Amino acid sequence: FRTLDGVDARGKRVLVRADLNVPMHDGVITDDTRLQRVAPTIRELADKGARVVVFSHFDRPKGQVVPALSLRPIALKLGQILGQPVGFVAECVGPTVEAAVGAMADGDIIVLENTRFHAGEEANDPAFAKALAQNGDIFVNDAFSAAHRAHASTEGVARDLPSFAGRLMQAELSALSAALENPERPVGAIIGGSKISTKLDLIGNVIEKVDTLFITGAMANTFLAAEGMNVGKSLQEADMHETARKIAHLAQEKGCEIILPVDAVVAREFKANVPTETCLIGEVPDDAMILDAGPRTVELIRERLGTLKTLVWNGPLGAFEIAPFDKATVDVAQYAAQLTEEGKLKTIAGGGDTVSALRHAGVVGQMTYVSTAGGAFLEWLEGKILPGIEVLRSAGHDLGLT
Ligand code: 3PG
Repeated sequence: FRTLDGVDARGKRVLVRADLNVPMHDGVITDDTRLQRVAPTIRELADKGARVVVFSHFDRPKGQVVPALSLRPIALKLGQILGQPVGFVAECVGPTVEAAVGAMADGDIIVLENTRFHAGEEANDPAFAKALAQNGDIFVNDAFSAAHRAHASTEGVARDLPSFAGRLMQAELSALSAALENPERPVGAIIGGSKISTKLDLIGNVIEKVDTLFITGAMANTFLAAEGMNVGKSLQEADMHETARKIAHLAQEKGCEIILPVDAVVAREFKANVPTETCLIGEVPDDAMILDAGPRTVELIRERLGTLKTLVWNGPLGAFEIAPFDKATVDVAQYAAQLTEEGKLKTIAGGGDTVSALRHAGVVGQMTYVSTAGGAFLEWLEGKILPGIEVLRSAGHDLGLT
C-alpha cells in the first residue's frame, strides 16, 4: 500500500473517501466515533497544505435525493471536531462541485453531498466514478468500513487517480493483520451472535486461523442441540445441526479447539429483570430459554483468555441489550480489557453489536484495537477480498506524486 507518508499534498486537490455514515436519531448524531477516527487523516492533509475534498455515502437512499439523508449536519459536526470551518457542497459531482473546489485555498476542507443520491454510486458506474475523480488530483481512501462495497466512491474512483490508504485505513489493516494474518500465538476468537447460518463463512475461515474458538450467544445453542443437549425453548437453528457437527469436526482436523458454554442463565421470558435461573447445560428446563452464558462458562473463558496472546472478538455472549443478560458479556469484556491493559493480551474487536457491547461494558478505550467497521469487519473475518482495498493494492496506482 501507499500511505500518506511522503505524499507531497501541498496545493493538490485530495479526494478523501471517508465513512461519514454515522448513527443519527431525529437529526442528532448519536455516535461520532467514525468522525473522530477519520479526523486525523483530514487534519494531516490540511496541515500539509492540501485542498481536502471529503466525500462519503450516508445511509441507503438508493439513488434518490432524500433530504433527511444529507451530509450537511455531519459536515458541520466534522468541522467542530477538526476545529476548523468545513465547507459543504450540496452535490458530489458536476459544475457546482467544480466551482467550489476551484475556489479552495491550500488547507481548506469541504464535504460533498451523499454519494448514494446518485444511482451510479452503488452501480459502480465508470462515468460516475470519473465525475467524482475529476475533482481530485489524488485519492485517499480512509473508509475501511465501506471497503466491502464495490461502489464508485470506494472502488471505481481509485481506478482513475493515484490512490493511497489514509491513516484510519492503515490502522485498521495493520490491526486486522495482527489479529489473524500474523498474530502472536496462541490466538483465540470469541464469535457470538444469534445465528450460525449468517456466520458460516466467518466460522469456516476463523477455524483455520485460531487455536481456540469460543462460540457464544444463541448460535452456541445450535451447537449444543446438535450434540444432543436439551436447550429448552432457546433460540436455535434446527436445520443447522448437521452443519454444526461438520464445523466441530473440521475444527478438530485443523487443531482448533471449540469451547461452548457449560452453563447458562435461563428465563421463561425475554424481558428486563424477569426471574432467572442458572443451570448447567444439559439441565435446561423444557420451558426455559438460554439468554446468557452462566458463571462457570465465564470462569472457563477467563481461564482460557489468560493463556492467549491475541483475541479477536465479534459478537456478544448473551442477549446483552437487556439486563441482567448482559452479565457474561460485561464480565468477559472487563477481564479481556484488564489483560490487555496489563500487556498480556492483544484484543481486536469489531462489528456493530460488539462495539455496543464493549461500550456498554465501559472498555472500548482499553482494547488494543476496536474497528470502526461493521459489515466490512465481518467480511474480512470471512477471509473475503474487500474491493475497496484490493484496488488500492493493485498495480498502476502508484503514479508518482510522492
Ligand atoms: C457501515 O455502516 O457498515 C458502512 O458505512 C457501510 O454501509 P452500508 O452497509 O449501507 O453499505
